[in-house]
Amino acid sequence: MSGAAPPPSSTPYERLGGDAGVRALVDRFYDLMDLEPAYAGIRALHPATLEGSRDKLYWFLSGWLGGPDLYQSRFGHPRLRARHLPYAIGIAERDQWLACMALALQELAVEPALAERLAQAFFGTADWMRNKGG
Ligand code: HEM
Repeated sequence: MSGAAPPPSSTPYERLGGDAGVRALVDRFYDLMDLEPAYAGIRALHPATLEGSRDKLYWFLSGWLGGPDLYQSRFGHPRLRARHLPYAIGIAERDQWLACMALALQELAVEPALAERLAQAFFGTADWMRNKGG
């Protein structure tokens, strides 16, 4: 079976390459947010240094993707929408976040079927985070 596709029952976490894969995705996501003018709008909402943001998103996504729930074990329930209320998030910010994540997935050569499934799931979460018009 070596080299064969993983069984369909495997989690997105496993299909991304486990802990190292999730960390690589988050690192690329925030590198792109730092580098690309297209994401300057959401970059400006973040602190000057992104180190804390990187850790938190990595801990969160580990559990959200079906791996160890590193975020919950540190902080309890994520209350993600409440935690985003200090930041004005509308359609433009949602779409920048999603485009930045889609590019990170593409650059890491995540298999297209998985990238598509994740894009849909990220859309649901990002859309739910909107807290202002426009
Ligand atoms: C919709 C557009 C989004 C914007 C503009 C946005 C922006 C932000 C900002 C500015 C922070 C604070 C960073 C910091 O304290 O270092 C943050 C924190 C966080 N975001 Fe987002 N975010 C968005 C969507 C998402 C989505 C879709 C997820 C998950 C799939 C997510 C997960 C997180 C997590 C886990 C934290 C850390 C929360 C904490 O413990 O303080 N965000 N986000």
